[in-house]
Amino acid sequence: MTLNVGDKVIFKVFRYNPEKDEAPYFQDYEVEIRRRGMMVLDGLNQIRWEQDGTLAYRRSCREGVCGSDGMNICGVNTTSCMAHIEDYNTTTLTIKPLPGFPVIKDLVVDFTDFFNKYFMVKPYLIERIPPPEKERLQSVEDRAKLDGLYECILCGCCSSSCPFYWSDKDYLGPSAMLNAARFVFDSRDDGKGERLDIVNNKHGVWRCHTVLNCITACPKELNPTKAIAMLQHEILKRKW
Ligand code: FES
Repeated sequence: MTLNVGDKVIFKVFRYNPEKDEAPYFQDYEVEIRRRGMMVLDGLNQIRWEQDGTLAYRRSCREGVCGSDGMNICGVNTTSCMAHIEDYNTTTLTIKPLPGFPVIKDLVVDFTDFFNKYFMVKPYLIERIPPPEKERLQSVEDRAKLDGLYECILCGCCSSSCPFYWSDKDYLGPSAMLNAARFVFDSRDDGKGERLDIVNNKHGVWRCHTVLNCITACPKELNPTKAIAMLQHEILKRKW
């Protein structure tokens, strides 16, 4: 669908302020297309800066790096700064907070549990030997093994799209496990065993039933399901 400069689209935005609203509701805003290729985040900024300063949402980098603006747009989780308005092929876009997370206000959700699970997998290099004087070198081949694992921006889109993340409050979720894999397969890391122990249970890699929603949701086109399968394979390879 082509939208021209001057066209108008409707943003139907989830609103909820727990301090004063009895229940959530949707509010319609008219957004003007001011340039070709406008992003959903541009539309939200237009609303907040020109129409309604009470609308709450997170954003920072505006270019798919910080991961702060994950939300559900027309039924699909993504980051609003990477979502072209035109790509939704409609003149009414429904915008909701990430499903499965407690709402703080409007499109802002509580990431406490998400980040607790991220830190549970120890997302940093664990080294048993003293560090070298300069950097810890890695071969080009070993570095290449991290492609598809290190690019996660922690937007929460994948975990929020997973039905097991909604139903099992202890499930680590695709994002935490993709980040576990990022270090398990790092040739410089000595914490592989302890990380595999952390994910080797019914709230870890064995909870994944390959629904594959996480792949569709990832705005960075990563594959958390594959990362979880890699961890499962690595666990099964261990000698018991
Ligand atoms: Fe940073 Fe969208 S604003 S990822």
